[in-house]
Amino acid sequence: MNVQNLVRELTLEDKASLLSGLDFWRTKPIERLGIPSVMLSDGPHGLRKQQGDTDNIGLNVSVPATCFPAACALACSWDENLLRRIGHALGQEARSEGIGILLGPGVNIKRSPLCGRNFEYFSEDPLLAGKLAAAYILGVQENGVGTSLKHFAANNQEFKRISVDVQVSRRALMEIYLHAFEIAVKSAQPWTVMCAYNKLLGEYCSENSSLLTDILRGKFEFEGFVVTDWGAVNDRVRGVQAGCELEMPGSGGLNDRLVVEAVQNGTLDEAILDRAVERLLRVILKADHANDPVPPYDRKADHRLARKAAGECIVLLKNERNILPLRVSQKVAVIGQMAKEMRFQGGGSSKVNPTCVDVALDELRVYGGSRVSYARGYDIERDESDEALVSEALSIAKESDVVVIFAGLPERYESEGYDRTHINLPKNQIELIDKLTGAHEKVVVVLANGSPVAMPFAKKAGGILTMYLSGQAAGGAAADVLYGAVNPSGKLAESYPIALEHNPSYLNFPGEGETVRYNEDVFVGYRYYDTKHIPVRFCFGHGLSYTKFQYSDLQLSKEEMDDNGVLEVSCNIKNTGPVEGKEVVQLYVHDNESSVMRPSKELRAFTKVSLEKGEEKTVSFTLKKQDFAYFNEQLDDWYVESGAFTVLVGSSSQDIRLTGEVRVHSTREVYPVYTGSTPLRDLIADKRFEELSTALVRMLTKHSGLKMEELDERGREFAAAIIEGLPLKSFPSYTKGYFTHDDLQQLLKTLNNE
Ligand code: BGC
Repeated sequence: MNVQNLVRELTLEDKASLLSGLDFWRTKPIERLGIPSVMLSDGPHGLRKQQGDTDNIGLNVSVPATCFPAACALACSWDENLLRRIGHALGQEARSEGIGILLGPGVNIKRSPLCGRNFEYFSEDPLLAGKLAAAYILGVQENGVGTSLKHFAANNQEFKRISVDVQVSRRALMEIYLHAFEIAVKSAQPWTVMCAYNKLLGEYCSENSSLLTDILRGKFEFEGFVVTDWGAVNDRVRGVQAGCELEMPGSGGLNDRLVVEAVQNGTLDEAILDRAVERLLRVILKADHANDPVPPYDRKADHRLARKAAGECIVLLKNERNILPLRVSQKVAVIGQMAKEMRFQGGGSSKVNPTCVDVALDELRVYGGSRVSYARGYDIERDESDEALVSEALSIAKESDVVVIFAGLPERYESEGYDRTHINLPKNQIELIDKLTGAHEKVVVVLANGSPVAMPFAKKAGGILTMYLSGQAAGGAAADVLYGAVNPSGKLAESYPIALEHNPSYLNFPGEGETVRYNEDVFVGYRYYDTKHIPVRFCFGHGLSYTKFQYSDLQLSKEEMDDNGVLEVSCNIKNTGPVEGKEVVQLYVHDNESSVMRPSKELRAFTKVSLEKGEEKTVSFTLKKQDFAYFNEQLDDWYVESGAFTVLVGSSSQDIRLTGEVRVHSTREVYPVYTGSTPLRDLIADKRFEELSTALVRMLTKHSGLKMEELDERGREFAAAIIEGLPLKSFPSYTKGYFTHDDLQQLLKTLNNE
């Protein structure tokens, strides 16, 4: 069907009606023209296809589907291939359930560990989030099923999420909050983008034309349609004008009528409506498979994939004296209700009804048999300690070689809809861990958490690993890793602060009144901790293995280049430990000298490499302009300031193994815009005006009344500093009228090349 011809056949009312949902999950069909209805469904880590009562907060049950690890866990794989496979499997499940568009992935940045929905997002770093999201999108869409990249944009908290106004600098927006969207859109073209509920810089995202049109379509070259988050409409006509095509779930025709009236009374140009309908129809026609055979999906194969994926995501945070892996000969005390009832996904709209669930305790017994004993340890529904449960745990611990505690955040602690107020585990779990680490030498803590938690036990527990929320096969994957059948290779996609107060957003989360100000600017996560030298519990990119990796032979293809150049970087990684394993090699860039504040290092590339015992491989990366650039607000573009940059390659953000240096020359000059407030110092630094600034300094010295020849060296330095600090506007009064106001206007024109 030719979309433009179709639009010509539509009445004004038809067109307006297409811009909102038929019901909670479906778009409107127009039967006389063969326009189908397609079904949308959450997302992101499994299907939540509702057939009975509908809701967008995960209350009503959905059809069984594979619950893959949530984004918080998947991100720790740092593995684009894995994300593509998961995406592919999700796309297959969607096809077989008749879903046209899957509502995910979510790439909002983890600004604060308190955001209730962090489990649905990937990282505090936009490159990692953007690349993983792109792989997921490609995987889903290769099945002929669309995705919805969400929540666009700056939806970084649940508190007042429907209305809060996010105030953030243009630079932080482009470098941090929009950059993951930029990467995913440019490299994977999601068929739809879901706009967020909140306001951004004073305007609701659903009617923000700077966001939806200038940036998303202009700068990022997005080709699909924008759908509102469920109920995110404010002024629908403004929304259509701004580039928001589909309202979900719809307003019973109310907003459609407003759109019709707006066209009739001339407030909305019908051409804008036509364009919106075209954008919608192009995707709807692609996503409709009503006449295609329904491909089945293999539930068992998807469960196996979910288990493999969960194994790739587990992060081994600490492993003192090789407490792990467990030996099958050891007597193991498994403690904690979560060993039987593992928390493996988050609450809210992403909640999947799993096809089956692995129970960690059962899976551990597959390895350790009757040498694995169990005590409940705590009541997951309560925060208070139950002494009987604690003493039962202590008594089985006493008879065991090693203790494995399953702990973590209960569902009531974190969910869509509200934020956490602290980062602590429940008190009863902390007390239990404290008692067990006091009574036994060998204690391992296995955490299930959607976001960082404080770890007062970090020094005393010999082993710590986090599963995050690893999906329905989490229990099996935990056993695989604990017994060493799978060598852990996950790395943290976010920093774990020692205390919440250390987090850079702490003073401005969740905001005051109607506004939240991102005053920490680009210094999010490790960009802040590393620049300020604030110690963290576990740093961004950290994760241990049962083997060891040696880094060597860093090669940079150039010592010098301009900003259109390409730098090839390579190094060797060798597995020098006892077993095969995988290493995530991370590349960061540091700007040695900059005229603007920049983070001390930023992730610019990564790769995951698999190595047999003793094997060595060369890994390589390609760096381009954007990898050295910051977002320059004056140019409204990425800009590289000429100078030297250090390339850092390592195993985590704080475990840098190799460094090299390259000089990059900018092909673009940025000159200040001169105003009366510009200090003379900036003019002196401007190479174009060397002669002019020397003359001005001479003139100012002469006519200021300063008797330079009578001053000693210190006095002359002081006088020079005062003169250099003068804003141009003070020249007339400083020279007592010798330099006139007309001279000032003329000077500004010359400087600004007018
Ligand atoms: C959530 C979205 C979700 C939608 C539909 C909203 O409340 O913010 O992420 O896709 O509901 O369930």
